[in-house]
Amino acid sequence: MAQNNIQSTLMENRQFPPCESFYKTATLTPKNLDALYAKAAEDHEAFWGDLAKQEIDWIKPFTKVLDDSNAPFYKWFVDGEMNVSYNCLDKQLAENADKTAIIFEGEPGDVQHITYRELHQKVCVFANALKAQGVTKGDRVVIYMPMISEAIIAMQACARIGAIHSVVFGGFSAGALKDRIEDTQAKVMITADGGHRGGKTIPLKNTADQALSDGCETIQTVIVFKRCGNDITMQQGRDIWWHDAEQGQSTDCKAEPMRASDPLFLLYTSGSTGTPKGIQHSSAGYLLNAITTMRWVFDIQEKDVFWCTADVGWVTGHTYVTYGPLATGATMVVYEGVPTVPDAGRFWDICSRHGVTIFYTAPTAIRALMKAGDDIPRRYDLSHLRLLGSVGEPINPEAWMWYHRVIGQERCPIVDTWWQTETGAHMIAPVPAVTVTKPGSCTRALPGIDAAVVDEQGQEIETNQGGYLVIRKPWPAMIQTIWGDDQRYKDTYWPYFDGKYYLAGDSARRDEEGYFWIMGRIDDVLNVSGHRLGTMEIESALAAHPAVAEAAVVGKPHDIKGESIFAYVVLKAERPENGIDDEMTNELRAWVAKQIGAIAKPDDIRYADNLPKTRSGKIMRRLLRAIAKGEEITQDTSTLENESILLQLQGKA
Ligand code: WTA
Repeated sequence: MAQNNIQSTLMENRQFPPCESFYKTATLTPKNLDALYAKAAEDHEAFWGDLAKQEIDWIKPFTKVLDDSNAPFYKWFVDGEMNVSYNCLDKQLAENADKTAIIFEGEPGDVQHITYRELHQKVCVFANALKAQGVTKGDRVVIYMPMISEAIIAMQACARIGAIHSVVFGGFSAGALKDRIEDTQAKVMITADGGHRGGKTIPLKNTADQALSDGCETIQTVIVFKRCGNDITMQQGRDIWWHDAEQGQSTDCKAEPMRASDPLFLLYTSGSTGTPKGIQHSSAGYLLNAITTMRWVFDIQEKDVFWCTADVGWVTGHTYVTYGPLATGATMVVYEGVPTVPDAGRFWDICSRHGVTIFYTAPTAIRALMKAGDDIPRRYDLSHLRLLGSVGEPINPEAWMWYHRVIGQERCPIVDTWWQTETGAHMIAPVPAVTVTKPGSCTRALPGIDAAVVDEQGQEIETNQGGYLVIRKPWPAMIQTIWGDDQRYKDTYWPYFDGKYYLAGDSARRDEEGYFWIMGRIDDVLNVSGHRLGTMEIESALAAHPAVAEAAVVGKPHDIKGESIFAYVVLKAERPENGIDDEMTNELRAWVAKQIGAIAKPDDIRYADNLPKTRSGKIMRRLLRAIAKGEEITQDTSTLENESILLQLQGKA
């Protein structure tokens, strides 16, 4: 498994103990942490049960911690009742009502501070507006919004009344939006006229109109927030402005009692095969791990200003924007735009102006900003920062060191957090005042998380050998199922090891000290700029173009994006001369952007007469990956149907 990855990270032996200025003021000390590990090891259920009692306000207390009678459909705190939005907002009113909950900054520079009291009111008013549109408990609501406070308000309002939200990233195309709406059978969609991104207005409402123009019959109402004032059309009887929907609604809205395992949200993510999967999360278990990780990994404290740069379209923007920070009474920054507008200093400018103390972003952003040079961050006052985080893909040691040296000024621990849409919250990550970090390793599993690297038989593998990353015990924030497809849930995540271990889909190794080093995916999932994309989705999009007969897509290592998308295409017409056809390439790139979204555009397209297949008809992806990287071909190609196409695929003929 990925031997060359092992080789490159085996060389990494730098170690960074937490510095004194950090651990002196941190909440979780080595002693406390040892106690947590010991308790979790002694009694897994009591460990999580006690935390759930401590951290969550229950309407009706649970009597059973874990129901595993229908594994792998594990149910946590099953007979308890609570409400997530209550735990994020009402709970803060007693002591934190006038504390700032959100510092919002738009890409054009507009800034707004919202206190917990104000946020509570806004959520209540909008929740009542949703009710007035006929939304009730269990209904699905699709949210297709820019990264503005109202996206969070919309999510919280759904949680308050027990509606299940499904956020679709604003960069996804009409086609991708339509597929997701149809899978959820949503009744209402919440969107905006537009959003500011990269200096442009993203026409969200127009895209939404296209998605709804054929199909999506379940959508009865579209609520539109006015953000940019760009021209849109409102369809009579279906579309209503956010501000009109709120007219006359009360600031009082009782939080609906929800069972612990009632779905809080669905979030679609790519798998290796088929259409994106609607990952279904619970209410109480999900919230619990959002809270525990805010404490253990981010060491969140009263005076912190927390900034997670993720969009609400991804899971990171759920757990560490909409839910975790609010449930722990934090002040957080929300930023609408991209890191490079007006220039590559925007993130550091925001950190300095708003006094950000905890900053959490993705390696792809770190690499892009690193490329812009050290002079830019040096212009800003980054002295408030005390902790840095990374998520989405393995961070390469070079980027880690730059983050540590230039942004953290050698004072801030870096928490490299491994987790997934399916895990709901951090699983493997440093505890910043305790863990000695190593650049490129996400270090150790958190208390109560039984992560391991195993072979096909489920046996733990030797030190520094690659294997399957698995979680051997259920945990509260775990995926509940794939929306509407229990069988696919079982087949995807519990296929081996007697269905007892959760299969993460990543390969990993552990070093001499038991630290985890993530090596990559074991399936055909790409990680482009920290975003998961299935090769299948892109292949289907390409194959849907009238000129394309067949396509295969693989990932290729990329300096900034982590992986770039490399497509091999067989056209219905003759192969272009020398395999070059710029016009067709541009056309196909635009086509994929339209089908899925700009993030899925292939970076390279190579044309061939055929794809390399084994005699049984399977595409030889390993070979295509090697070719994309420009590597010597060492694989046995004798089983290839048509060996002569190798030169075409390599761009040599
Ligand atoms: C990868 C994002 C290495 C991994 C929260 C995982 C990582 C997938 C890390 C999940 C990390 C995420 N180190 N790899 N710190 N964090 N990954 O669902 O391959 O968008 O399976 O969730 O991203 O991506 P997802």
